[in-house]
Amino acid sequence: MPNTRIAGVGHHVPENIVTNDDLTKVMDTTDEWIRERTGIEERRYVTRGEDSTTTLAAKASRKAIADAGIQAEDLDFIIFATLSPDYYFPGCGVLLQRELGITKTEIGALDIRNQCTGFVYGLSVADQFIKSGMYKNILLVGAEIHSYGLDFSTAGRSVSVIFGDGAGAVVLQASDDDTGVINTKLHSDGTHAEKLAVLHPGMHANVLINKIDGFDEFLINFDYEDQPYGGLFINNEIVDTKIYAPYMEGQAVFKKAVQKFPEVIMEGLAAAGYGPGDLDMFIPHQANLRISQFVQRLMKLPDDKVYNNIMKYGNTTAASIPIAFSEAIEKGKIKRGDLVSLAAFGSGFTWASALLRY
Ligand SMILES: CC(C)(COP(=O)(O)OP(=O)(O)OC[C@H]1O[C@@H](n2cnc3c(N)ncnc32)[C@H](O)[C@@H]1OP(=O)(O)O)[C@@H](O)C(=O)NCCC(=O)NCCS
Repeated sequence: MPNTRIAGVGHHVPENIVTNDDLTKVMDTTDEWIRERTGIEERRYVTRGEDSTTTLAAKASRKAIADAGIQAEDLDFIIFATLSPDYYFPGCGVLLQRELGITKTEIGALDIRNQCTGFVYGLSVADQFIKSGMYKNILLVGAEIHSYGLDFSTAGRSVSVIFGDGAGAVVLQASDDDTGVINTKLHSDGTHAEKLAVLHPGMHANVLINKIDGFDEFLINFDYEDQPYGGLFINNEIVDTKIYAPYMEGQAVFKKAVQKFPEVIMEGLAAAGYGPGDLDMFIPHQANLRISQFVQRLMKLPDDKVYNNIMKYGNTTAASIPIAFSEAIEKGKIKRGDLVSLAAFGSGFTWASALLRY
């Protein structure tokens, strides 16, 4: 059975730096509040109109492809994790194929809608495809443009200060050496689905809102020429309730995250016969520096065995782990042969870990 080797890594963040002080110009917040609660000092936002989630992903992907020493045409599968796709459909996987100039059709493209755990879930999917012998070169990318979809008024401040834009990618390759993915552990608990969510666009939100608003009457008078996408319309309720912006019960997310992160990391380590002391590096999803520090303390990991960069980039959701992974490798903090754990918790709730030898 082949191993799933991490053949190449790459990341890209927009040049435009937005500091906490910059945010105080548009909402009632302070640098002190943001640093104290989240550890975030600044984040990156794309320049409006210049980039899409796909073009950000392509920039990271080209680096990962070059790092792997292959050509884009050598890829036989693309996995794209994002919660901020360019379109409601089709997904970003096919758009990335086009953006990378891959014209062959002997390639598959899959989108993963798992928010903060999207990259780890994608790694698990890629690992199964490679170990089963189905694919040899898989591009896995996590990319987000949050800045196009946040509520920057004071009402949205507890969410909007946290998120940033960016992309990270890896090329996974079938290999017979002894490095690569050791195991992945995936979990979910849908009872908390609406605690961290964007409800619109979504058919369910439309039905709920329009029931309240006399949906039957609305349907009879519905002008399909003005609203060509059927259920995906915008009306005043959607605008007023801002259900197109992310909603988060921050404390509920925090409490579950600090419980599930250590559990899922330990699950992966134990399954492989390792303990936390064997790790060369732990890369937590960059949700909140306070969550990462809590987990670090619980697992008794020294500072040089945990990589955090949320201070510079904020929470980039599906992109946060591949950006941090790629950056840690670039800085020489992860070397070939190192034992690395990646772990994430987020919307769903879903949580997951991946244990690998780089
Ligand atoms: C979001 C989070 C930082 C908020 O911190 P918190 O301590 O829970 O803060 P609360 O939401 O209870 O708000 C506390 C106060 O700060 C205020 N506040 C919220 N956001 C603010 C901001 N950006 N600036 C200033 N004040 C703010 C609130 O209005 C509230 O004021 P009040 O006491 O007068 O009502 C925290 O809950 C968190 O990090 N949760 C996990 C988030 C996470 O990891 N999400 C990603 C998952 S992948």
